[in-house]
This record gives sequence, structure tokens and C-alpha cells, in this order.
Amino acid sequence: MRQKEITSLLNDMSLEEKIGQLVQLSGEFFSANDISLGPIQKLGISQQIVNLAGSALNVVGARVTREVQKKQMQMQPHHIPMLFMSDIIYGYKTILPIPLGLGATWDLDKVEKAFSNAAAEAAAAGNHVAFAPMVDVARDARWGRILESPGEDPFLNAKFAQFMVNGLQKNISNKCGQIACVKHFAAYGAVEGGKEYNSVDLSLSNLYQNYLPPYKAAVKAGCGMVMTSLTSLNGVPVTANKELLTDILRKKWGFTGIVISDYASIYELIKHGFVSDEVQAGKAALEAGVDIDMKSPCYANGLKDLVTDGRLDENKINQAVLRILNLKNKLGLFEDPFFGASEEKENECILTVEKRGLARQLSEEAIVLLKNKNNILPLKQDQNIALIGPYAKKGTLIGMWAIHGSTADTVTISEGLKKYIPNLKVCSGTDLQRDRKLLDNLGFLSKEDIAKNIASEDEELKNNQEALKVAASSDIVIMAMGEETYEDGEASSKTDLRLAQNQRNLIDQIAKLGKKIILVLINGRPLVLSDVADKVDAIVEAWFPGTEGGNAIANVIFGKYNPSGRLTVDFPYASGAEPLYYNHLATGRPENGSQHIGRFVSKYIDCPQGALYPFGFGLSYGKVKYNSMELSASRITVSDQLKVTVNLENQSDFTINETVQLYIHDEVASVVQPVKRLIDFKKVELKPRKLVKVIFKVTSNQLTFFDNHGNEKIEPGRFAIMAGPNSRDLISKEIDLIG
Ligand code: NOJ
Repeated sequence: MRQKEITSLLNDMSLEEKIGQLVQLSGEFFSANDISLGPIQKLGISQQIVNLAGSALNVVGARVTREVQKKQMQMQPHHIPMLFMSDIIYGYKTILPIPLGLGATWDLDKVEKAFSNAAAEAAAAGNHVAFAPMVDVARDARWGRILESPGEDPFLNAKFAQFMVNGLQKNISNKCGQIACVKHFAAYGAVEGGKEYNSVDLSLSNLYQNYLPPYKAAVKAGCGMVMTSLTSLNGVPVTANKELLTDILRKKWGFTGIVISDYASIYELIKHGFVSDEVQAGKAALEAGVDIDMKSPCYANGLKDLVTDGRLDENKINQAVLRILNLKNKLGLFEDPFFGASEEKENECILTVEKRGLARQLSEEAIVLLKNKNNILPLKQDQNIALIGPYAKKGTLIGMWAIHGSTADTVTISEGLKKYIPNLKVCSGTDLQRDRKLLDNLGFLSKEDIAKNIASEDEELKNNQEALKVAASSDIVIMAMGEETYEDGEASSKTDLRLAQNQRNLIDQIAKLGKKIILVLINGRPLVLSDVADKVDAIVEAWFPGTEGGNAIANVIFGKYNPSGRLTVDFPYASGAEPLYYNHLATGRPENGSQHIGRFVSKYIDCPQGALYPFGFGLSYGKVKYNSMELSASRITVSDQLKVTVNLENQSDFTINETVQLYIHDEVASVVQPVKRLIDFKKVELKPRKLVKVIFKVTSNQLTFFDNHGNEKIEPGRFAIMAGPNSRDLISKEIDLIG
């Protein structure tokens, strides 16, 4: 349609029709599948509004979306097609590693390609909008949604935001892409205490410097939609926060797309105590800048009276509807309401060998080798090996947010390893979780499921004994441990970040047999590994690795792939050390370098400082030495470029994929600065025994910071430039920025 036709369509629509466009409902309203995740409540909206609804949530599959589209268009006076939106966060059917794992790849190009694959699968199934990328900076491992984020670093999350948006949206014109909806704007990751849905309180400097950059990068990349956060920010719920949704997003950043609320978050303005009823909630959200109301009755039931009573300017509604019609038009839905979706296209496009291949590569790259004592890894096929643990045979390697993926399509760890050792000894040895209360609290499992998940005491004993017998007859035990699917993701904040007690017990018992242990971890957050790390010989952090997980893990363990993953989150020594992030602000009493000694420095008295495994950390087979770093100048002006040369040496016979990281510290500034922060990185292949130079170009726009009014500043003075393999082991030199 031409813009003129869109405008005349808008002018011809009744107020009810327009309001319908602003309402998003889930499957049960359209007699389709309801897989929406979130609190279910009766909405109490009229059938008329249901018939006029402009978009559907998590209704997927070519057959279903075509049917719903046809029915819905017939009911609408202007036959306006619906938008189908869904949580396709790290794959539709071909499931990638969880975003925390994708972050650990530091491989932006491959992630972009994989997101375009995900969008192609979803588009074939009739889906138009992916509720991704989720790029909330996540600094607290207690927060279960850390699983969905690339990690704790603003620079890296911004890069992933850009590449993920590009990947999702790049093939829209040939109906093989999706509109990206970046979320959760803004700063959901900073919930107090890491507790789900809690409030957020941030200084403006912190907000602008650390939390806003990833969303801004998504907007800059042309992201079509933005989802609000369920939380409040500095006392104002985000869903009614005009400063964020209009002043920053639209006016400062120039965003012209659609803003959607999160699930029921307009209604929740009442629960926040910000407004007193549904009508006020709708008014506050619309006026703040929210175009679509996801799964709440507020727009459906409140907007009409507000307009007819003159309490709301209809133009506000018109603007929102226009944005929605424009998006539908951009997707070509007025000409082809099915977006080319068909079951044939699904069959051709979903879970292809090529897509699985890329997913496997990313699962391999996501794996972070945390420990490898005496180079026990890679293993050899002729060694006497057993696979033990609750994840040995499980297909649940795809994680909580893979809501359209199937465990039946997933390669288990045992299947992957058996490609190397066909008669591998395998047993589970114990449950994933034996804590009934915790399983009950997950809210997804029925009493029957829980009963099925937990073996009786007798069975548990038998399982343990079988595991010990299998271990006793082996030299090396691969232990596949981790978290239950719903221990990570939305609504899964935890205060204890250790492996479940029963899993730790089994590790203890097998360690006592004197066996070599390779611990393979399937989980969605940084774990506390202090009490197991010394008992095992190697730790392979595999995250929820996705559809190809078992193959990727096996390829790493047997050395077909040399591990290259680097953490994008800190692994703490203790749960109580959270939030833990490498780029914390300098303190007046740092642990190292304070004039005080001993007690009166910033530290915990019962736990080592810093991280057990820090941001950026990860081992490979072989060894890289950082020989030196050269700077092209020791003084620069704001218009100069500094050349940083890092000299590396591969001291091994392995080819190594090294992620060379560049950090800075602004030594004196009018706002206290992080002790270090990442400003660039390069992933390079190092051939055996070779010397390699890696060159970075630094300009003054990488040296800026935000003050407490949200202004970006640069101040002359001394900066440390640091390079290394992770955020802890760095070579450092200083430069002066002169004014
Ligand atoms: C709530 C979650 O916060 C959000 O990430 C998701 O996209 C919506 N539900 C829709 O399922």
C-alpha cells in the first residue's frame, strides 16, 4: 500500500477498530495454541475487541497462523491483517545456545547469521515479530533472566544487539526475516537483589553508561519494535515512563517504530501503586508512549471512554495505529497476509542440515573451558571413560525460553559422545534436583511431574550405587550436571548458586574413588563452583547448548573443536558476592592499592575477592602467551588515533582461536569510573608456534563517560590501556589525553 492509502485507511477506521489495533492477545482468544508464559488471568474484555485485535502473541505454525489470520480478517470491517509476534529468543525450532552462551562465543558474524536462520524458520511458520534481542545488561547471577542476555558488559551487549537485529531483519523483504523487538527497555537487569520483577534504582550515570547502550545500538541498527520492562526505574514504572519511552527513545534516539508493553505490564501499573484503575493505567501508558498493550484489559476497556470524555487526545491513538499499520505495510501483509508462510516452506526451511550445522558451530564456540588440570582434555577414544550424571541422557538441553523447540530434536550428551565411543558406559546416578519445595516453586511442574522427577530414597540409593560401580570400572568419568530447565529464565531468581546438594554429593563420592573427573555443566547462569572445582580435573561450561548440544560437547571433549569460549559474566566464589561484575566503580578503599592494610579495605571477610572465573576468561587446548603491548603514542589529543599493538605467541601445537580483549581505565574523572571496561576485542586464529600481532585503533569517542545528567563527556587526563586474554590478566600502559 502507498502511504496515502494507509492514511485514508486510518481515517476511515472507527475508534473501536483503532483501539483493537493496539490490543495484543494470546492464542486462547483465537482458539489457537496458548503457550504464552506469564500470569494467566481472565481479561474481561468484549468479544468485539477480540475480533478487532491487531496482533497475537505466541500463536505459531503456518497452518494455525493462516487459519487465525483468515478468520480474524473476515471479522474486521477493513479486513486488516494481524501481526503474529512471538518469543523466538535463540531459535525457533533449531535452538541455538542460550544468549549467555552466544555471548561467550564473542562471534558476532556467526550470531547474526544464526539469528537470520531463526527468523527464516519463524517466518516460514507465519511469524512476523521476534521478541528479541534481549540485551539487558545482567550483573547479578541470582536473576534467572541472565540466561537470556549476552552478559554483563554494555559494550559487548551493544554489539550483540546490533548484530542480532541485523540478523533477524535482514531478509524481511523476501519474507524470510522478522521484525526485531529489543527488550526489556530499560534496565530490567538491574532489579534489586537480583529478585525477579523487583524495582530498579540507578544513578543517571550508571543508566546511561551501562544499561542504555545495548538498546540504543538496537535502535541504531533499525530495530522495528521495543518492549518495555516490567519493572519501575527510579520510582516510575517503565511502562508509564515518558522520559524513557518518549524523551530518550523517540526524541533523543529517533526511534520511529512500535513500543509494546510487556505481558500485562499496563495493568500492573495499578499493582505498582502508580495509578488507581485500568482506565488510568491505559491513559498513563499510552501517553508515555506505549503503542500496543500486551495481554491486559486496559486499552481494550479504557481508551474509548477516555477519548469520548475528552480526557485523551484521539491523535495519540492515531499515531500509535499509524505505526502499526505502517509495520504491517512494510511486511507486505496487505498484499500477502500470510507472509508467504506454508507447511511446505516450513518443511523446507526448518531444522535443515545447514541450520543445524551453524547451531552446532555456535554451541561449540559457546563452550567455555574453565579448568583443564594437567591437560586432561582432550580425551582420546581409547581411554576407559564413563558418562555419569542427570544430564547424561536428557534431551532438555535447550533451556527455558526455547518454547517452540523440541527436546526430541535435540542431540543428547550421550548420543554425542557415543559417536566417539559407541559402547560408552552411561548412567544418570542422581536426579537434577531433589528439593521438592524448589521444584514446586518453579511453578511449571505439576505434583505428578515432581513425583516423576524425584526418585524415591531407595531408587536414589540404587542410582548412586550404580554410578559408583560404573565409575569404579572406569579411569575417567565425564559428569553431566547442572540446573533444571526452569531454574533459569523468567521467574527463577535464586539465592543459592551452587549445584544441587545431591549432585555435589555424587561428585564427592566419585572424587573419593580417585577417578579423573570431567565436569560438564548445563546451566543458565554463573554458578558457584568453589566447592567442586578442586575435586574435578576439568570443567566444561556448556550452558544450555541447544539442539546440537550433545555433538558440540563431544567435539570439544575429544578435541575436534579446540574450545574458544570466553565468559561474558563473572563466576563468583559465593552466592553472597552477587552482584559481581568486573567493571565495578573504583572505591576509596580498594583491596589492592589502599593506604589501609588488612581489615579496612573493600572486601568480604569470608570469601576471596573478585571472581573464581572472571569476565573474559576461558581456556583453550594449548597455550597463548601475551608477550607485550606497544602504544603508538603516550600523549594523544581528542582528534588523534592511538594504535595499540598486542604481541601474541602460540606456544603450542594446537591452532587456537584467541579472543584478545582491550580495556581502559579513566584514572581521574569528575564521575567515579569503573576500574576497567572493555572497549574492543578481536577474535584471531593463531597457528601452532606462531607469533601474531593484533592491532587495535583507539579514538577518543571510546574514552567518554556519562555524567549524572545523562550527558556524554570526555575529560583530559591519564588513561590506562590494558590488553589481555581476560579481564584479570592484563598488560597495562598509560597514555595522557591532552585538552
Ligand atoms: C514476559 C517476558 O518478560 C517477555 O520477555 C516476553 O517476551 C513476554 N512475556 C511475552 O511472552
